[in-house]
Amino acid sequence: MQIIPNAEQFVEVIIYTFIAFVLMALALLLFFYFSRKKILKKELENKDMELQHQMELLEATLETQERERQRIARDLHDDISSKLNVISLNAHLLSSNDLPEKDFEEISSNIILVTKQVLENSRRIAHDLLPPILENFGLHAALEELCHANSSGELMKVSYINPREELAFGKIDSKNHLHIFRIVQELINNSIKHGKASLINIEVDTTESKCQIHYTDNGVGFDMKESKKKNGIGMKNIKSRAAFLRGKFEIKSILNQGVNAKLSF
Ligand SMILES: Nc1ncnc2c1ncn2[C@@H]1O[C@H](COP(=O)(O)OP(=O)(O)OP(=O)(O)O)[C@@H](O)[C@H]1O
Ligand SMILES: [Mg+2]
Repeated sequence: MQIIPNAEQFVEVIIYTFIAFVLMALALLLFFYFSRKKILKKELENKDMELQHQMELLEATLETQERERQRIARDLHDDISSKLNVISLNAHLLSSNDLPEKDFEEISSNIILVTKQVLENSRRIAHDLLPPILENFGLHAALEELCHANSSGELMKVSYINPREELAFGKIDSKNHLHIFRIVQELINNSIKHGKASLINIEVDTTESKCQIHYTDNGVGFDMKESKKKNGIGMKNIKSRAAFLRGKFEIKSILNQGVNAKLSF
């Protein structure tokens, strides 16, 4: 026998179904509302972190600029101005009429000597600001010279391998060559200063679309968490230079196992 629901039961079913749908819709709405809120919060946190990172990089850039200015001012004061004062003083002495022959010769040779030192110092200051080899012969030659200058026999070996040099640096805007040079220079400085390394390997690995510089040293390495607490700006600078290159810089180290870094751009 077939049971036919009466009108009341039918309405009841419809009402319950409607309520169930409304509840489900409400639950879905609440779920989407809260998960959207959570996503927005996370996005905001990420943006904050990114902003903070950029601020840190900017601070490091400004601090480096300030340090460089101080260094140049010190170099100019100690190595140029003070020596020019000596030359000026000696030149005035030379102009006195009753100067004995012996003193004249001594003062003249002093002027020649100090002038030579001033010339050497100004040349060194200019070289520090912009290595001439970089401008005249390009990044590959400048890196080769940098590695050579930091090698000293068996005590310190800096090896540099770049099998596809033309492809590696040919496509990079020459304005950016100095950034790459300074990054490698800072890595070498750190390996010598902190790592007491005796062997550094730099290898440039190039494909059509990408260039990677692999850097390793055999020094004492460092604790990655501890190094963040130190207030050196070398690493921050490397990161901001890598950002200028629209590249990526990663560094890994374990105590007593040296350093392993990679710059890709
Ligand atoms: N190759 C390395 N071997 C051992 N420790 C390293 C090496 N590179 C970096 N570190 C550690 O990381 C820290 C941060 O390096 P960073 O270059 O930022 O600062 P710094 O060299 O101390 O000072 P700055 O570069 O500003 O003169 C160093 O103090 C050092 O402890
Ligand atoms: Mg440093």
